[in-house]
Amino acid sequence: MSDFFPILRFDHLEFYVGNARQAAGFYEKFFGFKPTAHRGLETGSRKVASYVMEQGTIRLVLSTALNSEHTIAEQVLKHGDHVAVVALEVPDAVAAYRQVTARGAIGAIPPTRAEDEFGVLRYAAIHAYGDVLIKFVDRQDYRGVFAPEFQPQPAVSTDRGVGLQAIDHIVSNVELGEMDRWVQFFTDTMGFQLLIQFDDQAISTQYSALMSKVMRDRSGRIKFPINEPAPGQGKSQIQEYLDYHQGPGIQHIACSTRNMIETVTKLRQAGVQFLHVPSNYYQDLTARVGNIDESIERLAELGILVDRDQEGYLLQIFTQPVEDRPTLFFEIIQRHGASSFGEGNFKSLFEAIEREQALRGNL
Ligand code: FE2
Repeated sequence: MSDFFPILRFDHLEFYVGNARQAAGFYEKFFGFKPTAHRGLETGSRKVASYVMEQGTIRLVLSTALNSEHTIAEQVLKHGDHVAVVALEVPDAVAAYRQVTARGAIGAIPPTRAEDEFGVLRYAAIHAYGDVLIKFVDRQDYRGVFAPEFQPQPAVSTDRGVGLQAIDHIVSNVELGEMDRWVQFFTDTMGFQLLIQFDDQAISTQYSALMSKVMRDRSGRIKFPINEPAPGQGKSQIQEYLDYHQGPGIQHIACSTRNMIETVTKLRQAGVQFLHVPSNYYQDLTARVGNIDESIERLAELGILVDRDQEGYLLQIFTQPVEDRPTLFFEIIQRHGASSFGEGNFKSLFEAIEREQALRGNL
């Protein structure tokens, strides 16, 4: 294992969208991200316009094509607005690319250097599930705002957003029978380890089921759970995603906060819609999870879920899909020691998802 490349952190997530200017407004007004850099016709970018949005250590890049022939336009036509690139910061992008392609990864962008007056940015990318790319970014010799072609956006306010801090994990959905192939990919090609797995017994309701395996890099900072649908009485929520995304892709992005109540209060005030939690969820909560710092009354008002493992407890909440297709959504999570993923909430969570799925006529 020692010869696998190290990963420093999530660098950014690039979304391909139909209208990046409007998406930037959405992530600013609803989720509290601040625009920090931009590229477009004004900055000499003739084919793509992008907005870099930041909060805490989270960086989203929203990109749109300026003509219909561009890959971004083709992929948005197929998937709708979606997460297309998961970028990881590494000390040496060329070495990372050579290692993973030598182990079987399919190259998408060969090692590339982009240069401007702020230095040299090195990057490369490989193919992952569906049309998703995993990109390696080496910022050691680059001091610019984000990348060449981008110009800084003037700071419009000192507002610190809604308190989103970091990316906790990124979940993908793959087709039935494909999960283990991607587990193998992360193990053999990327040097990840299997952290935990959930079978369809653990994650099933009356209607639908799924299976999940969580892959983690050696630092423990990068976690990629992978879901596949399991046959049930109705259509698995994973299958609904696959039908509307038209293939495998990123299902949800979990962002951490240090103050769940404040963050969710601000998100709700901004108009973010969350999955509805039945009020009886809170009736025997203390019996299930023991004593916690937060007021259960307040958690119930905000619809925040709680779960406990051997190491501590966590608070979590899930948004509704952030586009019209029932595909990508966000999770907000605060860990009080717990390192798990809220297994205790799976059943009530999935029942909540199925209520929405039934409203869409897809259960
Ligand atoms: Fe999650």
